[in-house]
Amino acid sequence: SYFTKAKFLTSAPDIQHLSAFDGIEIAFAGRSNAGKSSALNKLTRQKNLARTSKTPGRTQLINLFELDESRRLVDLPGYGYAKVPIPMKKKWQKSLGEYLQKRECLRGLVVLMDIRHPLKDLDQDLIFWAVSAELPVLILLTKADKLKAGKRKAQTLMVREASLAFQGDITVHAFSSLSGVGLSEAENILMQWLEI
Ligand code: GTP
Ligand code: MG
Repeated sequence: SYFTKAKFLTSAPDIQHLSAFDGIEIAFAGRSNAGKSSALNKLTRQKNLARTSKTPGRTQLINLFELDESRRLVDLPGYGYAKVPIPMKKKWQKSLGEYLQKRECLRGLVVLMDIRHPLKDLDQDLIFWAVSAELPVLILLTKADKLKAGKRKAQTLMVREASLAFQGDITVHAFSSLSGVGLSEAENILMQWLEI
């Protein structure tokens, strides 16, 4: 697949430190431990491209991965981790909102949510900001392997229904970095955003 050639490019401590970019960026965001890094590794077929961890809050930096000179994937730090001090949380929320509003090269946002606990407050804020910035949103309901097929379908339909309220360009798929459920659907959407 096109994504296998992804290479680590650089890290940034926060959104203000990202330099301007002429190409296309797609960002991956979600609560701590939602499975962002695992999804990036699955997508790129690289076991250790993005660091994964059992400890929530592992990805503290913004990590940029290059597909080619004009296309990038961005692994954003997770939010909602209980142990992070409130001022840091506030700062992160503010800069995330600004990133979605002002980053011109950003063409789409992938929002990852554990299929068993979707649409928490911060997830909804994030989706709202993305839609406000007129960005298409791909919701991946992660760890779909943890649910039986019936329950997985029900959760996916529930989130699809709920996402209508945002009145944006939102697509919802169940996803598993373990089983590969939803991988080809996700790839198809990302290829469109990346103009591949
Ligand atoms: P932060 O960087 O801390 O925000 O976390 P993250 O969103 O990058 O999550 P990460 O990919 O590190 O995964 C967190 C934990 O969930 C790890 O223990 C993963 O092995 C596990 N995990 C991720 N995706 C899946 C999945 O599809 N199925 C199952 N069963 N476990 C998963
Ligand atoms: Mg991570």
